[in-house]
Parts: sequence; structure tokens; C-alpha cells
Amino acid sequence: MEKVKKNAQVAQKTRKAAAAMLCLLSLFLFLLSSRGEDAVPTATTVNENGPLLALTFDDGPYPKVTTHILDVLEKHGVCATFFVLGSRVEGREEVLLRMEALGCEIGNHTFSHADLTRLSAEQCKEEIDKTNAEFERALGHPASVVRPPYGFYNAAVRKNVPYPLVLWTVDTNDWRPRNVAELADAVVREAEDGCVILMHDQQSSTAEAMDAIIPALVAKGFRFVTVSELIAATDGACKAVKMPGGG
Ligand code: NI
Repeated sequence: MEKVKKNAQVAQKTRKAAAAMLCLLSLFLFLLSSRGEDAVPTATTVNENGPLLALTFDDGPYPKVTTHILDVLEKHGVCATFFVLGSRVEGREEVLLRMEALGCEIGNHTFSHADLTRLSAEQCKEEIDKTNAEFERALGHPASVVRPPYGFYNAAVRKNVPYPLVLWTVDTNDWRPRNVAELADAVVREAEDGCVILMHDQQSSTAEAMDAIIPALVAKGFRFVTVSELIAATDGACKAVKMPGGG
């Protein structure tokens, strides 16, 4: 009788231990899943239905500043578009690969930062094609958008460069060192639905300002997209973009 009672007690203890284990396991699984929900959002999940905004960075890559900007984009789970110079690709392929891995777009900013309006049709095509050849080598595909240096274009450029020409709606003048707080305030103040913000991945003040700009824009409800995503979402009617063949 005593032995049976002991056995029953052992069985009960085992059941209790099993139940406790099960509890711990569910708690662990719950923590694991809720941790997943709280994880840094990806570019596609930040303010999914919010007003659209495209951050753009020109003239790089300059590995120190560009990498800093990529770190900030990754931290906040948003994407941007980098208008890269063909002449700066060689030796910096890893930086370009990281841009794409983070969901960023790489655009063509010519090979030598040329004023395309001063070039012959042939020279114009060469500036674009040589840069796309560098992208093919580094990434396996060409760019699908072009930003003409200085924003200079004319009818001849539009004919000779059969890509969407991406200009901007907000110019930050950040190619020179800027006060970080002032730069951040200006960008946050001027941002509006469908805007394309012109920046450069050259000055460390730009990279530092991004760490304030992104959370402020996220808080205002903005959804960050690449330039090609903005073109698709606006059906080519974005005011900062001149579509090929368009008026
Ligand atoms: Ni430029």
C-alpha cells in the first residue's frame, strides 16, 4: 500500500515536472515569437500604407561615409537609392553588394560626373553604358534609372539616355559639411508625399543626420521606397522623374 502511494506520488511529481517543462517551453516559444514581432522592421513593413518618400545619395561610394549610412538604414529597416559613379565602382564592389542586400537601389550617375548637355550623343551613351558595364561586373545587372549630374538635361539628353531621369524635390546642399541638427530639421520639415530627397554619401555630417532624420520621418508616417518603387507606385507621374519618351 505504502509502495503504491509512493509510486502515485512519483507519478504526480513527474506530471508536475512535465507540466512545468511545458509551461517553460511555451513561454520560451512565446518570447521567441514576440521577439520576432518586435524585431527591426524591414523596408517593406515600415508604415506600409504611409505617404511615400525616396532618400537618394549621389556621387559615391565613399566607403567610410557610405558604410555609415548603410549601417543607419539597416538599423532603422529602411531603404534608399544610391546614384553611383561608374568610375568609383572598382575596388568598392562589396559596398554595392551590401546596398542591394539591404533592399537599396543602385542608380546610374554617369561614369565621370559629366554634364550630359555638353556631350555628343555618342559620348552621352558612353557615360551611361560604361557605368552600366561596371554594375554588370559587380552586381550582375545594369541600373534601371539615371540621375544626370547637376540635374542638367535637355531634349538631346532625354533622347540619348533612354532611362527614367531622376531629379529631386528636396535639395539638402549636404555636399558641403553641414550642422547635423540643422540638416536633419530641414529634411524632416520639407518631406512630403512622393518627394525625392537629394543627398550625397560624402560628408560624415550626412550620415550622422540620417540617424535623426529616419526615425523622425517614420514617426510622421512616411514609407521609404526606392526610386523605381516610387516610379511604379506613381505610375511614372512622380514630379521628380522625367520618363523616357514623355513630354
Ligand atoms: Ni552628382
